[in-house]
Amino acid sequence: MFYITTPIYYPNAPPHIGHAYTTVFADVLARYHRLLGDDTFFLTGTDEHGLKLQKAAERAGKSPKELVDEMSEIYKRYWKMLDISYDRFIRTTDRDHEKVVKDALNILYKKGLIYKAKYSGYYCVDCEKFYSPGEYEIVNGKPYCPIHKKPLEWIEEDTYYFRLSSFEDFIKEVLRSDIVYPKFYAGEILGKLEKEGLKDVSIARPKERVSWGISLPFDQEYTTYVWFDALLNYITGAGWGIDDNKFRKYWPSVHHVIGKDILWFHTVIWFSMLKALDIPLPRKVIVHAYLINRGLKIGKSSGNVVAIEDLIERYQDSDGVRYILMRVFNLSKDIDVSTELFDSIYNSELADTFGNLVRRVGILAIKKLNGNVVRNKVDQNLMKKLNISIDRYEKSMDEYNVSQALETIMDLLREANAYINKERPWEKDDPSKELYSLLETIRIATILLMPVIPRASEKVIDAFDLKREGIKEMDVGSVEQFNVSDAPILFKKVKT
Ligand code: MSP
Repeated sequence: MFYITTPIYYPNAPPHIGHAYTTVFADVLARYHRLLGDDTFFLTGTDEHGLKLQKAAERAGKSPKELVDEMSEIYKRYWKMLDISYDRFIRTTDRDHEKVVKDALNILYKKGLIYKAKYSGYYCVDCEKFYSPGEYEIVNGKPYCPIHKKPLEWIEEDTYYFRLSSFEDFIKEVLRSDIVYPKFYAGEILGKLEKEGLKDVSIARPKERVSWGISLPFDQEYTTYVWFDALLNYITGAGWGIDDNKFRKYWPSVHHVIGKDILWFHTVIWFSMLKALDIPLPRKVIVHAYLINRGLKIGKSSGNVVAIEDLIERYQDSDGVRYILMRVFNLSKDIDVSTELFDSIYNSELADTFGNLVRRVGILAIKKLNGNVVRNKVDQNLMKKLNISIDRYEKSMDEYNVSQALETIMDLLREANAYINKERPWEKDDPSKELYSLLETIRIATILLMPVIPRASEKVIDAFDLKREGIKEMDVGSVEQFNVSDAPILFKKVKT
């Protein structure tokens, strides 16, 4: 069983390459697990309530519902363009989710974990978060959001609190386990907790200020705080209180993929909510660093967005974009987006290494052997390299290191290209052994590349008549005969 989620995105603007970074990564893990034969459930969606969306709708002269209906379709369109194989696209305006939020609130209210009191503090609408002194920056004597570099709003109102403070010890203990990956991120949160302790958190907004949200079931004058609402999407997706069998099946294997900006919510707040609801904690929270541009995190508010469609156009289809994003993907380190770097990855790895090998071997098989390459002994060196590569690939993927997994395959493919140059099969009367060895290498590489470049992999499967096998069944040297009917050009180089 493998259940994987992305953050649900705010649909106040179309997704950009930063959102694609997370979503493609989660998609690759989902596809990898399907390839391993795991029963997989992949959830993504949109976070549609709250002040940010309400204000975006006002600016656009639309009702919030009109805006989110339109924008969630746009998200789906982008994810289709990028071949994102989600099993459900959840919207926080979905009926079942509204029920989950209300049920959860009722449980916590009955347990005495929610109470009413006054709140005052500085708020950032872009973060949808209150900032306390020490957390915000002072610019020209005014408190500023440290992330969005905009003035904070002073807010004073009656609200409902969730007793977050009562979970401090629990959270600290959990953060010492390896639930957060890579683990150093948990250390950052622990440090903050040690320094500042944990205060109760406001989980409601008066309707006159924020009308766009799910009403509190025990007080109609209030809407639910957008983060409290949003985090629950992960249990809605698994069927909590709706489909118990599904929930029992998938929840224990849930993996949350998130960017490091929302780690506090996905540890401190989310873990406390789950504990309060008697729901087991997730298996893993997988955290990644940012894509940056001109030194800043890519984002609408930094004004340095790179559009997904521009990348798809430059690299011809989704495969190129997916491959590049995954080749630079990094959990710990921020990555600078650069056309030179992206072009060179695309040209040297996809076009010159994988594409070129497939093309050369396809042509040779057709020319020399009419496309029929029967079983032979696989070249010893390639065989060794293949076995090592498969092991390394699986190990890297199991550590969520997709970039390293891709590097391993490229290494293998470069070795195969060198093998052709050395053996010169075009000069031999019967190059069956060489071509069989090469086709086996291509077959294995194609299967392993499927999670990242599904389209190109399908083309090779068709052209070389390969079986659609899972990783567990792909035994090196097991193919009786290859029937090569085409030598496709998989990737056209971009002009740099
Ligand atoms: N709606 C909340 C999440 C709720 S989840 C219960 C939210 N949405 S968001 O639209 O702002 O998306 C945030 C996520 O988008 C980040 O955590 C990250 O996964 C991804 N990214 C957005 N910009 C990014 C970069 N520049 N670089 C890497 N990831 C980025 O927060």
